[in-house]
Amino acid sequence: MEISTSILSVKEEESVHTFYRLETAHTDYYHIDVMDGKFVETNTINKMQKYADELKNITNIPTEVHLMVKDVRKYADMFLACSPRIIYFHIEAFENENDILEMIQYIKNENCMVGLAINPETEIEKIYKFLPKIHNVLVMSVHPGKSGQDFIESSIDKISTLKKYIDENKLDNLIEVDGGVNIENAKTIKEAGADYVVCGSYIINSKDYRYTINKFKEI
Ligand code: DX5
Ligand code: ZN
Repeated sequence: MEISTSILSVKEEESVHTFYRLETAHTDYYHIDVMDGKFVETNTINKMQKYADELKNITNIPTEVHLMVKDVRKYADMFLACSPRIIYFHIEAFENENDILEMIQYIKNENCMVGLAINPETEIEKIYKFLPKIHNVLVMSVHPGKSGQDFIESSIDKISTLKKYIDENKLDNLIEVDGGVNIENAKTIKEAGADYVVCGSYIINSKDYRYTINKFKEI
């Protein structure tokens, strides 16, 4: 299974070194968690801008941007500058369906893939109508805001419900799962229908990145 490493818990003093280590360990993607202090309490804008710049200089491994922000347009513009492979924004960031559709189109027009992220307490059915317009779905398996939280077990049912819907309707969206992922629960997450996972603290806190990342790839 492909693995996207969240760099949220990377320490600023050793960020460049850590990014090199992740590259050598062949992470498939770097996952950039952008928080505005409004959609979630934490604010990571400056840190993630700095990390995005560093990554641009260091590596050709593609990045994914996960926007946990209210003003999606503003931060999409800011992070489109680092040429990500995909930008995810939250379905909960908008009240109006048309605004979501417009934002999807806006990101596509910038030649960037687009995905919708969905919080643990939001019903998965809410995302169905957007599936034909987007590439991926990011199913949040923790409450957005910080790394190192426990995986919410009810996410498994959500993933399998979504996977069933995608297959039955012959759609081709991929499912990515974010939050509390480790090598013990990754197999169950995959069997539920996830195409790939985001993993933060479990990788960053491990001693041997290559070993840990390989373990995910073997699943
Ligand atoms: C949570 C973020 C996640 C988080 C993952 O708000 O979206 O990407 O950094 O970190 P872990 O794997 O530690 O839960
Ligand atoms: Zn994330």
